[in-house]
Amino acid sequence: MQTLSHDLARLRRQSARAAQPVVPEPVQVPAGAAVRASGVTKRFGANVVLDDLDLEIRAGEFVALLGRSGCGKTTLLRALAGIDRVTAGTLQVPTALAAAFQEPRLMPWKRAWRNVTLGLKTDAGRERARQALAEVGLAHRENAWPATLSGGEAQRVALARALVREPQLLLLDEPFAALDALTRIRMHALILQLWQRHRPAVLLVTHDVDEAVLLADRILVLEAGRVAADIAVAAPRPRSAERPGFQELRSRLLGLLGVELDAGRA
Ligand SMILES: Nc1ncnc2c1ncn2[C@@H]1O[C@H](COP(=O)(O)OP(=O)(O)O)[C@@H](O)[C@H]1O
Ligand SMILES: [Mg+2]
Repeated sequence: MQTLSHDLARLRRQSARAAQPVVPEPVQVPAGAAVRASGVTKRFGANVVLDDLDLEIRAGEFVALLGRSGCGKTTLLRALAGIDRVTAGTLQVPTALAAAFQEPRLMPWKRAWRNVTLGLKTDAGRERARQALAEVGLAHRENAWPATLSGGEAQRVALARALVREPQLLLLDEPFAALDALTRIRMHALILQLWQRHRPAVLLVTHDVDEAVLLADRILVLEAGRVAADIAVAAPRPRSAERPGFQELRSRLLGLLGVELDAGRA
């Protein structure tokens, strides 16, 4: 449990109070895999959000998850993070997992480095926080209060907090959605760099088709409670929107998401 973030542990406690568990918590995944989910169903009353869903993610794989608003992306992520129980099915994930969300969720009364070490049970906390903050380009902000950080800086602190746990699975729920376009481009480069250096498996929820095509090894589209499309992206990184095939894949994904482009103008 010490590998889980303080934030996740708190959310899990809240959730355990709110709902009776129906199926067991996620269990340890076998070596070589990062996620194995099988027959996962999640209902909220009569609303079936996840419907007999299967999902496999290999160790070290970068997967993007697209889907229309309200289709169940966050529900799936919260189940994988162990925050919410599912109604049926089995979930296998690594013990070492970390999550970051659209909002950085920093404790305003704790300095940046203390936010990074929240919940870590180690004496080397400060040094590890320092290293993680340096990796996200924030060595000079280790003593800053959250209120003095820009949106991009706060999100980088949240990434450092995830990183310091050395996760085998990094769950990201629209982590760049609230950032301005330029900051988002920098964050894309940063997340790729961190992924290439530490090689966790990544499940990145995004509504941004370009982000998925730029970053992921594989793009999943969630629809009607299941993985409706599973598309491998083999292009070498760093990728650019100018490379051959980018626009075709983009249009195909937009089509799957129900956005019809006028071929003449797209
Ligand atoms: N705690 C909850 N109680 C009831 N319904 C919920 C709850 N959380 C999510 N939902 C419903 O589940 C569906 C999927 O939500 P969500 O996973 O947040 O979608 P997404 O992240 O893809 O936008 C929505 O219809 C939403 O209203
Ligand atoms: Mg969501």
